[in-house]
Amino acid sequence: MKMYAIIVAAGSGTRMQSELPKQFLPLAGKPLYYYATQVFLQTFRDIEVILVVAPACPFRHEDLTGCFEGSSQVRVVTGGATRFESVKNGLAAIGDQGIVFIHDAVRPFISKNFLMQLQEEALIKGNAIPCIEVLDSLRKVQGDENVTVRRDDYRAIQTPQVFDIANIKKAYEQPSIEAFTDDASVLEAAGHRIKLVEGLRENIKITTPIDLKYAEWMMAG
Ligand code: C5P
Repeated sequence: MKMYAIIVAAGSGTRMQSELPKQFLPLAGKPLYYYATQVFLQTFRDIEVILVVAPACPFRHEDLTGCFEGSSQVRVVTGGATRFESVKNGLAAIGDQGIVFIHDAVRPFISKNFLMQLQEEALIKGNAIPCIEVLDSLRKVQGDENVTVRRDDYRAIQTPQVFDIANIKKAYEQPSIEAFTDDASVLEAAGHRIKLVEGLRENIKITTPIDLKYAEWMMAG
């Protein structure tokens, strides 16, 4: 079974308040995008990794891939103005059969076991979407009003999300809408049922300066 990972790293990272997009900021001496890419290469021997970067990426493509032992398995593709466009460009760069992991470069704390479990689930069910229980209380806000909602009815969704390639490529032929904040929402809109899998509490998305500080602390531990 052919396997690919598309790692999206084409965001501008405005919430990080730094000139350099967050996926290239250093974490324990390596750029953030390095960690997840390395775990994919170490977990699946024949995987092809597509790293999607912005057209204005300040680094040469060969410098982005040169740091990996399996650097010939990593290709760089240019992304777009939205995450949807970036993923679509990544999908255009892979074959038409097999399974694809789509992952945010800003989630470095994934593991071999986690990826293998997701792969297994996706092979059986057609897709595998990691989620975790929400720990905070939730309220729905509508204009000036707000109302409590049942926390148990919700899950927080993570990446990597794993898909049968033919299905996700077809789903990405739809026009993008605001509700497409991840790839599962795109597949769902194309008529597929989403298969949730237990995610990892430590698989945090590094978005703000405080997340990066927390990630440094996690790395040190
Ligand atoms: O903006 P957000 O935090 O949702 O970004 C999630 C991931 O999508 C990040 O890894 C970011 O680099 C990527 N992204 C992208 N292309 C965009 C916007 C975001 O690859 N145009």
